Amino acid sequence: MTFPMTRLRRLRRTSALRGLFRETDLSPDRLVLPLFVIPGAGVRQEIPSMPGHARLSVDLVVAECEEAMALGLGGVILFGIPGHKDAKGSGAWDAQGVVPRAIRAVKKAAPDLSVWADVCLCEYTDHGHCGVLRDGEVDNDETLTLLANAAQAYADAGADVVAPSDMMDGRVGEIRERLDDHGHGNTVIVSYAAKYCSAFYGPFREAADSAPKSGDRRGYQMDPANANEAIHEVSEDLAEGADAVMVKPALPCLDVIRLVKSTFNAPTAAYQVSGEFAMLEAAAANGWIDRRRAVLETLTGIRRAGADAILTYFAKDAARWLQ
Ligand code: PBG
Repeated sequence: MTFPMTRLRRLRRTSALRGLFRETDLSPDRLVLPLFVIPGAGVRQEIPSMPGHARLSVDLVVAECEEAMALGLGGVILFGIPGHKDAKGSGAWDAQGVVPRAIRAVKKAAPDLSVWADVCLCEYTDHGHCGVLRDGEVDNDETLTLLANAAQAYADAGADVVAPSDMMDGRVGEIRERLDDHGHGNTVIVSYAAKYCSAFYGPFREAADSAPKSGDRRGYQMDPANANEAIHEVSEDLAEGADAVMVKPALPCLDVIRLVKSTFNAPTAAYQVSGEFAMLEAAAANGWIDRRRAVLETLTGIRRAGADAILTYFAKDAARWLQ
């Protein structure tokens, strides 16, 4: 059967018909809100390149999380900006650091929310790289222990999910073993498995003051030209015990999200990163796009590509629009 018997427009005629046969759902419980935690109390520092987002002290993070829970979000992911940085990023596993303190407070105040902790050293190192440096290069194997230290500190504090974003080889296995050895067999690992060396992390690095002081991240983050390598990364992380895998950034990598989902059929997340957020906000502020429609279209596209969960700075707005 073909035209004129077949008319695809028939099912598009009314909202009810479109709703019945819509292929992709978007709901607040699919969304994770990223938050930046700083020392102090009552402190809110706006992030110029991320309108509406700010670095927040623990008490204000708690207030955000109560709101996030009320909106029905699936979770929050915490990034710490410590008062003091050093060569090894030792603030990353300080039990009294901002992230463990925030985790403890949020678990108490917003128990329905899943609390994720990003595991990486770049916010904590004075040189801004995601691992320790040896002769100017990030030393993979020496970094693994430090990442496991951080993951353990967050699991000790009660994090539901630890999410390593450093791109060292072998970190998922190292973290799984450490967690299991310390009574954290139920702590979930969502690995940033296919994390590309992307220009779209710019606003985040401003927010976290985590841009590398020398060089770049090409020696550990993936080349945006590669997709087969993403399959290899994901298969390694799943074999090492990742419960779910992430593709990042999202919009420039929709093909990778689809490829990963189709190949492994594993729980898959995608991160709509700071530069994607900034780009949409800037265009909307200029009146060049309809903010709400554009944001929901990107989130739907990311879901359609195969992401189960989406980390997005639009999580709260999207939840309000979807209610
Ligand atoms: C830490 C980390 C980064 C992001 C998430 N975790 C920055 C980076 O790799 O440089 C980026 C998130 C965003 O841009 O929103 N390694």
